[in-house]
Amino acid sequence: MKDEPRSTNLFTKLDSVFIRKEPFGLVLIIAPWNYPVNLTLVPLVGALAAGNCVVLKPSEISQGTEKVLAEVLPQYLDQSCFAVVLGGPQETGQLLEHKFDYIFFTGSPRVGKIVMTAAAKHLTPVTLELGGKNPCYVDDNCDPQTVANRVAWFRYFNAGQTCVAPDYVLCSPEMQERLLPALQSTITRFYGDDPQSSPNLGRIINQKQFQRLRALLGCGRVAIGGQSDESDRYIAPTVLVDVQETEPVMQEEIFGPILPIVNVRSVDEAIEFINRREKPLALYAFSNSSQVVNQMLERTSSGSFGGNEGFTYTTLLSVPFGGVGHSGMGQYHGKFTFDTFSHHRTCLLAPSGLEKLKEIRYPPYTDWNQQLLSWGMGSQSCTLL
Ligand SMILES: *[C@@H]1O[C@H](CO)[C@@H](O)[C@H](O)[C@H]1NC(C)=O
Ligand SMILES: *[C@@H]1O[C@H](CO)[C@@H](O)[C@H](O)[C@H]1NC(C)=O
Repeated sequence: MKDEPRSTNLFTKLDSVFIRKEPFGLVLIIAPWNYPVNLTLVPLVGALAAGNCVVLKPSEISQGTEKVLAEVLPQYLDQSCFAVVLGGPQETGQLLEHKFDYIFFTGSPRVGKIVMTAAAKHLTPVTLELGGKNPCYVDDNCDPQTVANRVAWFRYFNAGQTCVAPDYVLCSPEMQERLLPALQSTITRFYGDDPQSSPNLGRIINQKQFQRLRALLGCGRVAIGGQSDESDRYIAPTVLVDVQETEPVMQEEIFGPILPIVNVRSVDEAIEFINRREKPLALYAFSNSSQVVNQMLERTSSGSFGGNEGFTYTTLLSVPFGGVGHSGMGQYHGKFTFDTFSHHRTCLLAPSGLEKLKEIRYPPYTDWNQQLLSWGMGSQSCTLL
């Protein structure tokens, strides 16, 4: 948080040059429902640490958490610089008509566009933490059980309501043959013979999301799971095969415990498939050949990348988290959160005197003072000229 002193050239030797981290002013944080505590408090902590005032809009969809946050937070935070606003899309729309100095939004690309459009009216900078369809490539040389364990854990965690979850698997028909029994055995081991009675599997947030997900169960062919119970908002851990690219399950972010498998013949075809689509928030590649993992990394783009692993990187404070392209812009976590909510102000404080020394830069220009100038500024002169 301290001022960061920066190097100078010959002409600024006597000056003090530094970067100061200053608050933007008033920050609006719009939080989602899927991890309603963490995805609300992590940005809030960073915005406050950076010295901003905050208007916090928790998700109205995760009602229980919304209620607790609205009750508890004002008890601990200075109410003259902090407010919780409750409401749905209409209230959020009204909120967005006001001028903020920074907007931090977590949610869907669809709503992200609304937020960015509203921000543009006031030239307000934004961080957009969006989602997308995260591909998960599985190479032929993998051990199916290892991959099944890892992919299933990350897919079915929080009942699949995770923006960085692997959204679909890309693999050869041969690998699919071996992966299916392995996935079945993993699911049984994780959640028992009747996953609905497992204490380790979550439920779908509300009826609207449940109905959306249940409709997706009709895509392709159910290979594992497929059961649902409306009264319990339960969707079984499901694997779909024979899925067409044009079906809804391959068009929208799934955000539920459903894993479609799409067949590709090679890593080249997988890369082509991925690059034909919007840049995802995360990309996963499983292979026993580091060459294949590296190819995936080098020839694609995504917010983050996991080689032979899921989204464990989100637990690290040492790396930034955020999307690219359609999956968002800006980044946070750890120190990156503080930086996101800080304006990095360049400051140069010169001595008030010494005008004689500075006079050589003024016209009329001669060969002599021009040469002296470019020498004094060193290699950096081109940035000025
Ligand atoms: C939420 O944040 C807490 C505190 O940093 C952390 O211990 C926990 O693992 C986080 N939960 C998730 C699901 O990321
Ligand atoms: C790679 O191969 C080894 C040896 O067969 C196996 O133990 C390991 O699980 C494999 N890893 C993956 C990601 O398939």
